Amino acid sequence: MRTPIVAGNWKMNKKASEAAEFVGTLLEAGIDKIEGVEAVVCPVFPSLPVVAELCEGKNLFIGAQNLYFEPKGAYTGEVSPEMVKEFCQYVILGHSERRAYFHETDEMVNKKIKAAFAVGLIPILCVGETYEENQAGKTKDIVTAQVKADLAGLTVEQVTGMVIAYEPIWAIGTGLAASGELANQVIHDFVRTPVAELFGEETAEALRIQYGGSVSPANAEEFFSMPDIDGALVGGASLKPDFVEIVRVAAQCKA
Ligand code: 13P
Repeated sequence: MRTPIVAGNWKMNKKASEAAEFVGTLLEAGIDKIEGVEAVVCPVFPSLPVVAELCEGKNLFIGAQNLYFEPKGAYTGEVSPEMVKEFCQYVILGHSERRAYFHETDEMVNKKIKAAFAVGLIPILCVGETYEENQAGKTKDIVTAQVKADLAGLTVEQVTGMVIAYEPIWAIGTGLAASGELANQVIHDFVRTPVAELFGEETAEALRIQYGGSVSPANAEEFFSMPDIDGALVGGASLKPDFVEIVRVAAQCKA
């Protein structure tokens, strides 16, 4: 049995004071009392300390949105795995926005995943195809290639314990979510199956795979009722109290 995981990727939103107020709202709404699901919030770096303090001892986990793979040194503007680990349990890596705007390659993502594991952080690896790739029938090639390259050299134990988010780029921030069935098919055929081939059936069965892209309280059930979808990586809707509802639907669907 895989424990569902719903993570809120706040992207570049909410300064520390806003983050603190919002986490207060989530806790008041009982997000940490929902059983059978892991809820994660992923603020910007400067908001991590205050959010970590508010979540201490609570059933609400914290993720960063990035890290650099070197442990320390002359890398102006970057944040090391150890620095992230001080406040977080999770770290989102390889998000399509980082790949597109900051030129992150699979090789860099692979290094970051290894660096995260080296300090005990759990990576949430993002993969997904663009609209053009999708229309050209390349979803399988793109997603499978990302999975293979990003997970290269990892151990069975590492892959078993990590999280992958399938986020079709055309569904991110567009309001045009994939259908539950399509997302489930891509996740099963192009993520879980290649993981089984590379790391074995048991690993693939244990690995948690999220869907991401325009998830909202209105469509959450469509995704969480699918057998291969173990949660969601939520952008826009994670900035609002709506997020609690999405976490609740995940708990209900997977109970
Ligand atoms: P939206 O939920 O806003 O589409 O964003 C998805 C996403 O990119 C989460 O990482």
